[in-house]
Amino acid sequence: MAEARDERLGRAAEAERLRLLFRFFSAAHGAGRSPVYKTLSEGVAGDDNLLALLLDVPDQQRRPSLLFAAVNLLLASRRDSDLAAYYPIHGGHRAVDDQLVPAFSAFCGQHHDDLARLLSQRSTQTNEIRRCVALRIGIDHVQRHWPGPVALVEVGASAGLNLLFDRYDYRLDGEASCPAHASSVVVSCEVRCSSGTGILRTPPTITRRLGIDRHPIDLSDPDARAWLEAFIWPEQIEELATLRGAIDLASATAAASVVTGDAMTDTARILSELPGSEPVVVFTASLLSYLTGQARNAFIAQLQEAARRRPVAWVFAEAPGLLATTTLDVPALRGPLAQHNSRYLVGASLRDADQHHDQLLGLADPYLRWFAPVPDSSDDFQSIQTD
Ligand SMILES: C[S@@+](CC[C@H](N)C(=O)[O-])C[C@H]1O[C@@H](n2cnc3c(N)ncnc32)[C@H](O)[C@@H]1O
Repeated sequence: MAEARDERLGRAAEAERLRLLFRFFSAAHGAGRSPVYKTLSEGVAGDDNLLALLLDVPDQQRRPSLLFAAVNLLLASRRDSDLAAYYPIHGGHRAVDDQLVPAFSAFCGQHHDDLARLLSQRSTQTNEIRRCVALRIGIDHVQRHWPGPVALVEVGASAGLNLLFDRYDYRLDGEASCPAHASSVVVSCEVRCSSGTGILRTPPTITRRLGIDRHPIDLSDPDARAWLEAFIWPEQIEELATLRGAIDLASATAAASVVTGDAMTDTARILSELPGSEPVVVFTASLLSYLTGQARNAFIAQLQEAARRRPVAWVFAEAPGLLATTTLDVPALRGPLAQHNSRYLVGASLRDADQHHDQLLGLADPYLRWFAPVPDSSDDFQSIQTD
């Protein structure tokens, strides 16, 4: 009896945690990005039956993005449903109104078993191509220190679409940046606190492109592609086209591959197997939130081990609070900046056998919809952290 009561209390506490998580999701991600998800996250936070959908799945699967993706996947083949009418990516035109949450709730009820299966078996899989802006800015910084060709490895690469960053066109503040490839994939980003002109330089030659992921996405598998597309938000028609363009390009060129591996245990070994002696740029974007504090530092130790053999530059786009828990040597992270986890920091950590140099390069929205370059290397981010 005591056990049953403890279990009930445990579930109630977990439901409260999830409620807060959905409210945070609504405030941090919905605002200005997705009126549909903003309203739905508030709706889920206020509905015990909807929250219960996540209570029966493993801890690490209890994420708002996973619930919304699972529903989105099912909606893609049910475009005549009442709920799909609110999703422009599924051809819907209906504005958010007081029937949205009831339509979501009814849809979840009708497809409860399919949802439960998806939520317990699938994990978050996104590939946010706009984060290539952070990669380009990081590689420009690396070039200033180590000019010449580099190898590129992304850890937590998902489908590996960021590895083709130099095959895409970039539009900063609406202006096309050079060189232009007339690519079907256009990456757009607003530049804040500065002008977009000249912030991207011509990328160096990339000698090889390799991704590492615990669960790589096989783009030849239609189910895997559909799951990746399910993470596109309801209003993001343009992002869906960009993602599909990048998938087609990656499938057609086969220029990059993604191997199965764990950031914490496999990074140094995989880097040691790369031929050549040119510097390796290791890119991570939105990886650290998947690692425990210990695993984050184990990953950095792996980079340091690899750097004993050849120069390694870690270019990151990650949340400040998570970076602050690592051994990175960045004084600004010891201050209030570490509280701003709804922003990402873009930076680089250059390492070789003798030394390392860590530097922040700018602040960004987690999806790189905007980027604010740091004016100079001693900047403490006081001016831009609270906007
Ligand atoms: C949010 S996605 C980001 C994907 C990509 N970096 C981007 O910005 O679009 C995080 C990725 O990290 C992978 N991942 C999580 N933990 C990992 C680990 N310990 N080692 C390697 N990859 C991991 C996940 O499988 C997922 O593909």
